[in-house]
Amino acid sequence: MERETALNLVKPQLTEHRYQHTLGVMETAITLAKRYGADEKKAEIAAIFHDYAKFRPKEEMKAIITEQNFPQDLLDFNAELWHAPVGAYLVEKEAGVTDQEVLNAIRYHTSGRPGMTLLEKIVYLADYIEPGRHFPGVEEVRQMAEEDLDQALIKAVQNTIMFLMRKNQQVYPETFHTYNDLIKIGKE
Ligand SMILES: [Fe+2]
Ligand SMILES: [Fe+2]
Repeated sequence: MERETALNLVKPQLTEHRYQHTLGVMETAITLAKRYGADEKKAEIAAIFHDYAKFRPKEEMKAIITEQNFPQDLLDFNAELWHAPVGAYLVEKEAGVTDQEVLNAIRYHTSGRPGMTLLEKIVYLADYIEPGRHFPGVEEVRQMAEEDLDQALIKAVQNTIMFLMRKNQQVYPETFHTYNDLIKIGKE
């Protein structure tokens, strides 16, 4: 799919702010794909569509999670997690994207998962460090992403978990599993 086609499909789904964020994720994902030898085109398409379902009504997302038999524990955790798997589903159904690697990069961009592919790592990290992101610790992860994708990702996941804990929010178990899986890299 051409970039313009994809952007035209995504734009009406998002607020202007979220669309600008998407453009940042796209540029960052392409840069990371070049740097770490991933498929640039897949990185571009996954990034463009990663937040496709962000503004769908909660009830619609809940219904899709139930009907499609996505992990039902999602419903017990923050609704912020839902747009990722629901997005993967809708991007296939409504935008006609069938590449499973691309769809998985969308599916796991919020929770992560153990055994993340290079493309999944790139989209997760691009979402975290795109130029429009301004929060404590982001610059450190940006710097790390220039040298070592896995170390940058570990830091991003750590920050995410600690941020949630500090706010007394639940942490989705897959995010802990992602952290545990990544932290053992280089220790085996
Ligand atoms: Fe997202
Ligand atoms: Fe995002």
